Amino acid sequence: MNYSSETIALLNNRVSVRKFKSDPVPEDLINEVLDAAFRAPTSSNIQSYSVIVVHDPTIREQLAVLTGGQKHVVEAPVFLAFCADLTRIENAMARQGGTIVDNNMEIGLVSSIDASLVGMSAYLAAESVGLKGVMIGAVRNDAVVAARLLGLPPLVYCVFGMCLGWPDEAPPQKPRMDFSTMVHHERYGALRDNRDLDQTLDDYDAALAKHYGGIGKPTTADSWTHDMDKKFSPQLRDNLRQQLKQLGFDFR
Ligand SMILES: Cc1cc2nc3c(=O)[nH]c(=O)nc-3n(C[C@H](O)[C@H](O)[C@H](O)COP(=O)(O)O)c2cc1C
Repeated sequence: MNYSSETIALLNNRVSVRKFKSDPVPEDLINEVLDAAFRAPTSSNIQSYSVIVVHDPTIREQLAVLTGGQKHVVEAPVFLAFCADLTRIENAMARQGGTIVDNNMEIGLVSSIDASLVGMSAYLAAESVGLKGVMIGAVRNDAVVAARLLGLPPLVYCVFGMCLGWPDEAPPQKPRMDFSTMVHHERYGALRDNRDLDQTLDDYDAALAKHYGGIGKPTTADSWTHDMDKKFSPQLRDNLRQQLKQLGFDFR
């Protein structure tokens, strides 16, 4: 049986793109992409997200600094900031005599999930018309600075950004881990075959090292395991919880 579809093909061919032609992305196309993305499912219909469409080069330059100097943040024709936004819920609750001051882990989590679903939907809608891009989590290097640059009010934080534009590169796809180790049936661990986790990681380290070698990117033989340890051994974005609390998201 052949279950292929345009969407499955789009996903199977997807790769992050960081180099763009200078051609602009028309405003009505951005709006159409976002309008479609807002059809994403939303937890209990809370629609707790906002998107900032950023063209202004001055803001983009400062965002690029915040993201550790990622050039595509300045160079992409458009930068979208996907934000978790509790302001409308706060307003609704106030009308009902309620208050959101005691916001908790659940509301922080669902608003972030909602924003992410809208972001991925926008990404796919954009790809379906030939745009390409890359998500930018590095806006959380300092969530308070990102909020200031984007003019976010209290109860809004930028979950991630997205560079979008017409592609000027076609990078090879980064390999993914073995399908059978990521899909479980009925209960976790009931793998289709009995390859153990070590073998999976050895295989993936080799595949990723080969991929990086092919594009001239320096790496080690234990590519992925090395990268993960380097990334997560230091406490990654250790101040984030404090910064989000400052912005009105108390993850507790
Ligand atoms: C939430 C999120 C944040 C990301 N942040 C960045 C980023 O700040 N800079 C960047 O160059 N790529 C970023 N990426 C892209 C990933 O590095 C990329 O998706 C991953 O390496 C797999 O490569 P691929 O998308 O080409 O398959 C991010 C991806 C996601 C989902």
